[in-house]
Amino acid sequence: IPVEPFDFVVFGGTGDLAVRKLLPALYLRDRDGELPPDTRIIAASRAGLDTSGYRDKVRGELGRFVPEHALDQETLQRFRARLDYASIDFADGTDWAELTTRLSDKSGKIRVFYLACAPALFGPICAQLAEHDLVDADSRVVLEKPIGHSLESARAINDAVGAVFEESQIFRIDHYLGKESVQNLLVTRFANTFLEPLWNSSWIDNIQITVSESLGVGARGDYYDGSGALRDMLQNHLLQMLCLVAMEPPTYVDRETVRDEKLKVLLALQPMTPKDVKRNTVAGQYVPGLSDGVAVPGYKEEVENPDSRTETFVAVKAEVRNWRWAGVPFYLRTGKRMERRLSEIIIEFKPVPHPMFPDSEGGGEPNKLVIQLQPNEGMRLQMTAKQPGPGGIRLRPVALDLSYTEAFAQPSPDAYERLLMDVVRGNPTLFMRRDEVEAAWAWVEPILSGWKQSERGPRKYAAGTNGPTDATTLIERDGRTWHEGATP
Ligand code: BG6
Repeated sequence: IPVEPFDFVVFGGTGDLAVRKLLPALYLRDRDGELPPDTRIIAASRAGLDTSGYRDKVRGELGRFVPEHALDQETLQRFRARLDYASIDFADGTDWAELTTRLSDKSGKIRVFYLACAPALFGPICAQLAEHDLVDADSRVVLEKPIGHSLESARAINDAVGAVFEESQIFRIDHYLGKESVQNLLVTRFANTFLEPLWNSSWIDNIQITVSESLGVGARGDYYDGSGALRDMLQNHLLQMLCLVAMEPPTYVDRETVRDEKLKVLLALQPMTPKDVKRNTVAGQYVPGLSDGVAVPGYKEEVENPDSRTETFVAVKAEVRNWRWAGVPFYLRTGKRMERRLSEIIIEFKPVPHPMFPDSEGGGEPNKLVIQLQPNEGMRLQMTAKQPGPGGIRLRPVALDLSYTEAFAQPSPDAYERLLMDVVRGNPTLFMRRDEVEAAWAWVEPILSGWKQSERGPRKYAAGTNGPTDATTLIERDGRTWHEGATP
């Protein structure tokens, strides 16, 4: 679907997210001819630059974040000319003249206001946008996660933004929903027949969702130390993935039906009592260790906060209380500075009801469907097969392996490329609705308060390992183990 010309205003246009993700994504869409000629990208920032300084800065950064082969002169020049810069103090009403002048010369275009800044500024910025008469029926606002730091603050932000924009104009982004393999989860489940009859507690033993990162918090320490893994990753990305795995099939796909079904899953999550928080959750924090063979500092040293109790790892055992999933544990975990970058959803099926090959060498392992998001997008179905040979029967696990890049002979676009164009087209299907965000906060909040009350801080784990031993105990206590991915 072609897009109409638009003005894309990024609050925080010189920040980490804009530079690493938003501008490269827009550049790549421009390269594919998707940005109409009259489209502008306006950075609203306090960085003290001017338009030409900003254009130079972006040119330098694109070299770092766009693949070399995609940097051609023609697109670079065209993209450069689209860039503009408005110096602004977001919350201060006296300083909006530059931005209003830039926007008022082109009325009638779609306006996208992307708030890539601290959530505390979302409300004040929206109030100023209204005050300066910059919002019309064709405007959209994009809110980066996390939306607040608690249910109460999320509600306050949603109220403040909702006072200016209609819900249909508000795009709460969760970039995991833009990943090809996450979207493909719905297609795999609902455009094939063979899985869905097995997709329930009769056949599935447990589900695991792991998002492990090998990097530490890097330059984002200020933000991260006030946030932690539960707010930064689990409240949004992991719960969204859980929803897509667990949801019922909607009758058809549109902007509301998928979100309605995801909401039902969030509302069906077993609420965490203080006892559950102790038993079914683990917070961890990395201490110095080896990352890819290189000595790296611990979290406290990295953020220069020797008293920090912020968790850089979280593991949770959750339960979805409905007919389909009763009794199936969902084990979720995510962390920084783990052994390697690996994101996977694992559907582990029940063992065969009757072992037919009791004398075989090597026991049969349960079937597993492994959906890999990172580092490579793909899917693997682990089966048991007979190892070829004239002797007795030997059972061996083998995999039916699907690599996206090989199957479709093309690399997957970055999640932001898809999502930003959905914003311009006004399609919110892959964005979080207010009720979803608030339901997710309501579920994680008891975990946050349980940890806060506990005298023990997060458990230590050495950088470069897969989290604290308590996380292993969390799952092994149930007679199960974390799936650690195929050997790279
Ligand atoms: C972001 C988090 O939402 O997702 C980061 O704020 C995290 O802390 C990032 O590193 C991970 O995204 P991806 O796409 O690299 O897995």
